Amino acid sequence: MSKSSFGYFDDRRREYCITRPDTPLPWINYLGCESYFGIISNTAGGYSFYRDARLRRLTRYRYNNAPFDVGGRYVYLRDNESGKFWSPSWQPTKHRMEKYSCRHGMGYTIIGSTYGKIKAETLYFVPLGENLEIWQVTVKNEGRKPRKLSLFSCVEFCLWDAQDDSTNFQRNFSTGQVEVDRGVIYHKTEYRERRDHFAYFACSEKLAGFDTQRDVFLGPYRGWENPAAVERGRSFDSVAHGWSPIGSHHVKLSLKPGETRRVIFVLGYHENPAGEKFDPPASQTINKQTVRPVIARYLKGAAVDAALESLRLYWDRLLGIYRATTPNPHTNRMVNIWNAYQCMATFNMSRSASFYESGIGRGLGFRDSTQDLLGFVHMVPERARERVLDLAATQLASGGAYHQYQPLTKRGNNDIGSDFNDDPLWLIIGVAAYLKETGDWSILDAPVPYDNAPGSETPLYEHLGRSLRYTLDRLGPHGLPLIGRADWNDCLNLNCFSDTPGQSFQTTTNKDGKVAESVFIGGQFVLAAHELAEIAKRRGQHADVKMCLESAARMEGTVLTQGWDGEWFLRAYDDSGSRVGSHECDEGKIFIEPQGFCVMAGLGLEDGKARKALDSVRKILATKHGIMLQQPAYSKYYLNLGEISSYPPGYKENAGIFCHNNPWIMIAETMLGDGGQAFDYYLRINPSARESIGVVHRCEPYVYAQMIAGKDAPTHGEAKNSWLTGTAAWNFYAITQSILGVRPTYDGLMVAPVVPPAWKGFTVSRAYQGVRYDIMVTRKGKGNSVRLTVDGRPVDGNVIPRPEAGVTDVAVQVVLS
Ligand code: BGC
Ligand code: NOJ
Repeated sequence: MSKSSFGYFDDRRREYCITRPDTPLPWINYLGCESYFGIISNTAGGYSFYRDARLRRLTRYRYNNAPFDVGGRYVYLRDNESGKFWSPSWQPTKHRMEKYSCRHGMGYTIIGSTYGKIKAETLYFVPLGENLEIWQVTVKNEGRKPRKLSLFSCVEFCLWDAQDDSTNFQRNFSTGQVEVDRGVIYHKTEYRERRDHFAYFACSEKLAGFDTQRDVFLGPYRGWENPAAVERGRSFDSVAHGWSPIGSHHVKLSLKPGETRRVIFVLGYHENPAGEKFDPPASQTINKQTVRPVIARYLKGAAVDAALESLRLYWDRLLGIYRATTPNPHTNRMVNIWNAYQCMATFNMSRSASFYESGIGRGLGFRDSTQDLLGFVHMVPERARERVLDLAATQLASGGAYHQYQPLTKRGNNDIGSDFNDDPLWLIIGVAAYLKETGDWSILDAPVPYDNAPGSETPLYEHLGRSLRYTLDRLGPHGLPLIGRADWNDCLNLNCFSDTPGQSFQTTTNKDGKVAESVFIGGQFVLAAHELAEIAKRRGQHADVKMCLESAARMEGTVLTQGWDGEWFLRAYDDSGSRVGSHECDEGKIFIEPQGFCVMAGLGLEDGKARKALDSVRKILATKHGIMLQQPAYSKYYLNLGEISSYPPGYKENAGIFCHNNPWIMIAETMLGDGGQAFDYYLRINPSARESIGVVHRCEPYVYAQMIAGKDAPTHGEAKNSWLTGTAAWNFYAITQSILGVRPTYDGLMVAPVVPPAWKGFTVSRAYQGVRYDIMVTRKGKGNSVRLTVDGRPVDGNVIPRPEAGVTDVAVQVVLS
């Protein structure tokens, strides 16, 4: 266990335990891992949704609130003798309480405290396979007197479409409808017309009352901190007609000294078949036949216990696939627990719902999702396969890609469109990762359409070829790839020239796009072309191998001449053909992205350019809080550069520490053999290693944030936009595959560690293609060369040979010297 002023890691339980409620920012967790999801903060704030955070929002949440986080899954307790009431999760009543704690674990959160000798704790989670969440409230009388208490639950329902819900009041104040039946509150707004789904909120105990109309429950001019019903100790039994439907139960509890009671609430989502919506059929009453058994099951303690245990086993399995024991505790807990867990959150949420993503933005990003694959493919290979095929089906016949697609319809998003010229290349990188992990070569022959058009199918393999050709068909004056609307850096908008407030930098294009070129895409192309050459070789498609290698070599030559600035790789050429990211520039002289990606692609390894580029990164971009995106920061708006210069210096893409691309530099350093430097960079942004500076860092110490403010910002070191970022996948990849060096290849598991010279050794246990490899690395010398002994037999090279059929456990000894 380690401690900071806000909490500590409890690695044994795979939890982060927060010990005071007033964290610098809300520190959140995710509930659910299939279709039903929730976000929950350390004071029980947040909301729930079914599959789509915009279109099927179950509970209401107001972003950018003051305080930051109000509205959530609240319970209130009231002492019926003294009339005192409080919320055990601190918010919303904010009483001074004893022993507050919030334990965020794998798919569950437990929040509790003690107030006036009453200990209360709520466990929140979503059982596997169900579209519902459980709140299990445990109340204990720790005093010497019998106590009479009231317990109130409360959620505010969202009228399903979260965007409409927060804007269309002239309609929405009149549409709300509920039913209360046998103690269960049903939220059925719009069920009378085009919806076949409703929400329900049930309680295991006999009710003393209920409320479903927000303003009756709260009372006029009151907020969540002192609802009228709670204050007076009795619900109003209100039935919502229009306005704002809520769900609140009132339960009375008498507790003897030492007595504990558990009360279970179930909040869920349910769909009825179109013809069976009503019961009786001619009525307007919800047919509850199909949902009643589900509700009844989870109102029983034994079912809750069993569901929680299944969830624990689910995470045991996922997190057991890659386990490391290194001399560094921050590495161990991030790799074994939190970084992997965050990768699954990016798989489930993409960039939709967090405390920084409002859930109403549309779509799954093409480049985001293809990169996220790198972090979760080993945990959920079958779902990764589906994701790959869905993404590829939105590709255009030209090889271009819709920048986003809709997860519900799986169609490309026309509003955003295409022309982010890095997008298609990520598909190759993602598919290569999938193949190396799974060995499932059949995916390449799967018929996949273009733009989802029936009849346009080709094998997936052909999609990869078109991705590569897309770049080759779009080369600029220097022979480098044209950048289009943007490459990885969404804010470097070289064809936009926007002078109109509110215009989208990403989708406004005022130039014909035939001049501005990206050195980053040049490096990315070389890397992707080598990946595809390797794939083609193994399929025996020799002409393709030749094409890939030749075009890679040509691009490599171009980047090394046209894309080299003297001490580092250039970033781009703008629409007037001027250099971006060059010593010639007044600001933005050096950018991180091409240094990382060009070296990762193997550029400049031989002639010293790679070393030079990385040395420049260390000298100019590295800070103790991580590596900045560029320097010097743009101090004014540059029409020819776009959004990057719209941010004040030090934030986001304008010289912030963009944690997503720091691992590219770590990987590049390992390619040059400098494990000490790579690991040093790794620790600078490792959230656990930053736990002790929580007051500066402010975001959760258990997950990566997208950005840490750079040195030009007044708040240097402050993190923002935690959870949903490509940072999760890339850091997981960098530490597990490049630094610890245990990586899947087409020929088997490779062991090529590039770790700090001071490390005496480490172990990795890795499940891979049906075999468990227990790898023990011991350092004998200071270098990175590897000697393998597999099940007692010395083996040449650094790839573990696949064992004979039937062998499921392999022991590998590795000597590093
Ligand atoms: C952000 C980028 C993001 C882009 C597209 C910009 O405002 O700074 O990080 O990629 O929007 O969503
Ligand atoms: C966040 C976006 O989700 C990602 O696609 C982009 O590469 C980075 N920002 C950098 O702009």
